[in-house]
Amino acid sequence: MRTDSPQTIYRKNYTPPSFLVESVELGFDLDPARTIVANRIKLVRNRDGKHSDIELHGEHIELVGVRMNGKRLKPGQYTLSEHGLTIRKAPAKVTLDIETVLAPQENTSLSGLYVSNGNFFTQCEAEGFRRITFFPDRPDVMAKYTVMLRADKEKFPVLLSNGNLIEQGELGDGRHYAKWEDPFKKPSYLFALVAARLVCQEERYTLQSGREVLLQVWVEEGNLDKTDYAMQSLKNSIRWDEQRFGLELDLDRFMIVAVGDFNMGAMENKGLNIFNTKYVLANPRVATDVDYAGIEAVVGHEYFHNWTGNRVTCRDWFQLSLKEGLTVFRDQEFSADMIGTDTGRAVTRIDQVRTLRQAQFPEDAGPMAHPVRPDSFVEINNFYTVTIYEKGAEVVRMMQTLVGRDGFRKGMDLYFARHDGQAVQCDDFRAAMADANGRDLKQFERWYSQAGTPVVKAVTQYDAAAQTYHITLAQSCPDTPGQTAKLPFHIPVAVGLLGADGKDLPLYTDGAAGQGTVVLELTEATQTFHFSGVAQRPTPSLLRDFSAPVVLDYDYSDAELLHLFSHDSDPVNRWEAGQRLAMARLLKLTADVGAGAPLALDATFIAAQRALLTDATLDAAFRELALILPSETIIAERMEVVDPQAIHTARQFMRRSIAAALKPELLAQYQANQTPGAYSPDAQSAGKRALKNLALAYLLIAPQAAELELAQRQFDAADNMTDRAAALAALIHSGAPDGAASALKSYFADFEHEALVIDKWFAMQAGAPGTDVAAVRKLMTHPAFTLKNPNRARSLIFNFCGGNPSQFHAADGSGYAFWAEQVIALDALNPQVAARLARSMDRWRRYVPALQAHMKAALERVAGSASLSNDVLEVVSKALAN
Ligand code: TRP
Ligand code: ZN
Repeated sequence: MRTDSPQTIYRKNYTPPSFLVESVELGFDLDPARTIVANRIKLVRNRDGKHSDIELHGEHIELVGVRMNGKRLKPGQYTLSEHGLTIRKAPAKVTLDIETVLAPQENTSLSGLYVSNGNFFTQCEAEGFRRITFFPDRPDVMAKYTVMLRADKEKFPVLLSNGNLIEQGELGDGRHYAKWEDPFKKPSYLFALVAARLVCQEERYTLQSGREVLLQVWVEEGNLDKTDYAMQSLKNSIRWDEQRFGLELDLDRFMIVAVGDFNMGAMENKGLNIFNTKYVLANPRVATDVDYAGIEAVVGHEYFHNWTGNRVTCRDWFQLSLKEGLTVFRDQEFSADMIGTDTGRAVTRIDQVRTLRQAQFPEDAGPMAHPVRPDSFVEINNFYTVTIYEKGAEVVRMMQTLVGRDGFRKGMDLYFARHDGQAVQCDDFRAAMADANGRDLKQFERWYSQAGTPVVKAVTQYDAAAQTYHITLAQSCPDTPGQTAKLPFHIPVAVGLLGADGKDLPLYTDGAAGQGTVVLELTEATQTFHFSGVAQRPTPSLLRDFSAPVVLDYDYSDAELLHLFSHDSDPVNRWEAGQRLAMARLLKLTADVGAGAPLALDATFIAAQRALLTDATLDAAFRELALILPSETIIAERMEVVDPQAIHTARQFMRRSIAAALKPELLAQYQANQTPGAYSPDAQSAGKRALKNLALAYLLIAPQAAELELAQRQFDAADNMTDRAAALAALIHSGAPDGAASALKSYFADFEHEALVIDKWFAMQAGAPGTDVAAVRKLMTHPAFTLKNPNRARSLIFNFCGGNPSQFHAADGSGYAFWAEQVIALDALNPQVAARLARSMDRWRRYVPALQAHMKAALERVAGSASLSNDVLEVVSKALAN
């Protein structure tokens, strides 16, 4: 058991830095076993700072020596702790020369300077720079950097850092050097270097202003056939930010580098974005449609950070959503605009809603719930969450809904006019939006300060004689750790009213007249909105386009939902009506499983599914999404007491019933949505493949020889990974004895040297309901498995613990024991990744008592283990806290 208790850091305790940094000159002598870092920093006292001590962070590095204004400091003149170095009562202007030594090849945490497949990479966000040298490693200290890299030329022919290359040459002894200068001030978390044997695809690109820039995508030698899409996405991102927000690339050179060992998706280091290979490498043979979409989104995301994150950065890490929420919103809009059609846009929106329900709502209702702008944390790495990112993006989106698209652009312009080059707070963004539009967004601040998912309860009333319609909205928000008695939020609720013919009625409200949709602004605990001139009893379409991240509680009848499902002009609510129809039945079926009652699915629901599946006027992508049933996790969130086996049985029953009833239609859609010709990842084709492969999955629920053959044929004939992987997954999930064995074998043999494809091989097996703990343990002994590579660990272990509920929650607790073992093993290597796995137990208190007991024991086992990281300790102790 750990004896020291980790420190909680509070937002309210923020103090400005005592010293600011004018310039940084870094010199690296790169050696995997022993890298020497020379660091010259020019510091000036900050007049806002409270004292004259220089406080430098530093962790896991060895100090060789430090000089102040040229004089070597003796040990008594500074204090060195586990966390850093302090020089007491320093003069107002100081030059420090600091030399440190580190061992990158021993660094398994992938934070700081590390080695991956023989190459050097850095990851400094959030607090990794302090693992490289002593420095005031906080985002409100922005400085100009010059970086000299020296390394063996044979092993590390490519030497990269932020900004512009200003000099390079030979050192004589087989070593060479490169000197880089970043013209922009930046916080230390945006520092990066790469020293590696890599090759690049490069291109000169002309900005709208006419200026020419150099774009590069760097990868390992064998991967040059997989860089086109990332390059295309980068060019699209540059163009989009010019057009939509008037923001231009501010450097002459922009680089993307792919690395196979990476804790997250990618990192926006100034001019030198470093990416998980997963979000760079693609060609039709190895990448799926989903992978392509992920690359576009993440390339966009990191590129957009150049303005929202880098030019304007965060004052402190509590403001993380200032850059992340805004940048996710920007990448979401980018992806939607790249598709361009209204339904395409809606499809991306539905995906976002699914992510919120699958991951953010549970987080917001669990022990790690925190506001979009947290008040405290133990380990900042634990706060790169769906709340900061996705809910943060929803908060930005609501502001756009409130001030309109043009108003939003005005707010962005004002934000940059005010804060370019600064480290600011979430409030500054909100203020820019409010001031640019003359709007009062004071109450809106609660979206940043109050955690929890609000519930909006709607009640409607129609008066036929007066032709009036009233919608009463009442809001509430559950308690979350440390927060009770929440105050009302400012919630935009987009509403339309459907007539009997399914068309939108004209709207006449107190405030406004609208064609199809009006945005009601709910600011009180309860508020009634009046509509006049309503000639017939309407069907309300509430919260169109998911206009706020809330749970909408309205007592819809089946008839109303069926009406919306077939006619709503808002595709998101059309989808939503289908989800509600399915959810009501899934909850009933789950209860019936629990009670041992017979299970049945009504013909009305089947008929609605049939109508949707066969409606050729609808985009394939939309039909596919609308046919996906709410996940087991989303169903669980709707229950007081969760019985994962009952949920699984109920959902499987529903899937089997649909498959049995719609077999001819499924087969017809399978044939109708083929995509002959050369593979293209465009939204139309991807949508067709998605629908076709959903049909295939349904056809393989209880397969006969013909269906197995169909899947096998697709597997063998596929000229792209989307179809190959879908066929393999269908075979695995079919549970047919040995249905998948030979396909699994040939897939592995064909792609043995494609790490990302082997990740899929593990992931597909880990998530299949037929894969139990014993099978996962067996897969861990496969020579291709390693805990050290985060992508591989995620593919098998995370996909089992988080994506295979019926096996993970095995009645004997063996899934939880496995989880505890893996959290502890991973923590010794990589605390950030371990802490993410630890989160899979967040919702343990909601399970049936027998499972709860096993879960608690597993949590206690982790909490009680020796030398636990702060990362994991924070997660498990919050889970166990009352
Ligand atoms: N800023 C990165 C992004 O959202 C996130 C990130 C990448 C990160 N690597 C990390 C965060 C390591 C913490 C630790 O684009
Ligand atoms: Zn980001």
